[in-house]
Amino acid sequence: MKAIQIMGDKDAPNIRLSDTLPKPDPKEREILIKVFAAGITADEVTWPELYTTSNRVPGHDISGIVEALGPEYSGSLSVGDGVFAMLRANTSQGGQAEYAIALPDEVALKPTSLSHGEAAALPIPILTAWEAIFTHAKLQKGAKVLVTGASGAVGLMLVQIASHLLGAEVTGLASPQNHARLKELGASQVLDYQSSNWEQMIDNVDAVFDTVGGAVLDRAWETVKKDGVIVTVADPPPPWAFGEGQPSQLQDHPYVKWIYFILTPSSESLEAVGALLDKGSVKPLEVKIFPVESALEAWTYAGQRGRQGKAVIKFPRQLIS
Ligand SMILES: NC(=O)c1ccc[n+]([C@@H]2O[C@H](COP(=O)([O-])OP(=O)(O)OC[C@H]3O[C@@H](n4cnc5c(N)ncnc54)[C@H](OP(=O)(O)O)[C@@H]3O)[C@@H](O)[C@H]2O)c1
Repeated sequence: MKAIQIMGDKDAPNIRLSDTLPKPDPKEREILIKVFAAGITADEVTWPELYTTSNRVPGHDISGIVEALGPEYSGSLSVGDGVFAMLRANTSQGGQAEYAIALPDEVALKPTSLSHGEAAALPIPILTAWEAIFTHAKLQKGAKVLVTGASGAVGLMLVQIASHLLGAEVTGLASPQNHARLKELGASQVLDYQSSNWEQMIDNVDAVFDTVGGAVLDRAWETVKKDGVIVTVADPPPPWAFGEGQPSQLQDHPYVKWIYFILTPSSESLEAVGALLDKGSVKPLEVKIFPVESALEAWTYAGQRGRQGKAVIKFPRQLIS
């Protein structure tokens, strides 16, 4: 089957298109998905897990149809169902291939109103935003929040879920060309990273959701209320992630909670946001589709700042037995 592989190591990744890997067989409860589209998260080349997998196929966000079910599968999916999924980072094979293996808790029915290309861009952004809002920040209705990187894939899901589902007052931090779109999607206020004092223009937020990190995350501490929470997912993680010490900002903000997390797959969260997408209350991300033959170009595009749309690789749709 055709697949993308990333050889080398995280300091010198070598992305290539291969056609030598065998089509996998679903075992036990596994689901074999015929992949029609796979989203790219460019930072994945910096994730160590990729380099420990047996076949180095990257990609966790996919959309396609169920091709076959393992002998012990007992869930509600049937062969031929349209699905989208987020594959765990440490599975033996990633999703940027004509066929991918998924576990039941990674897969949900694809929102029927979306194309496979649109659906393949969404699982990681949906799951990250959902987990940040409901599991880590435990955001309440009407809360006041700041989202950094608000125009990014995760940021756009954070803005929409917080504003539409919880009626949150959302301030987004983004480059000026993205401000109008963010307002359309539910942000009450949008600020520019380049404003010298954006952190003085908002205060007392219940939660900061940070997807940028570095100096932006450092400055965002000024906006949070006394017992608020800072949730970050940005790569590279802050120095205090993974239990490695404490943020220096605690000296001035001793009651603020601070969390870095890595997302967990959840078919329930995909289904919940899938229903909102079908109702039209959450809008999909813009996508730029590349045929698999242009996969290297797709990866280059995915790593660029200021791109229009998330990069998605499209695989041939004819079914191969
Ligand atoms: N820990 C986890 O589980 C997890 C899960 C998902 C994603 N992530 C990480 O979260 C981050 C955001 O992911 P994403 O998919 O939303 O990325 P994305 O689509 O590339 O969005 C990032 C946004 O950040 C803004 N930004 C501000 N300063 C930037 C800078 N110096 N370089 C690049 N972007 C900058 C950009 O906004 P403007 O275009 O408005 O300037 C961009 O839209 C990434 O680092 C990703 O690896 C982590």
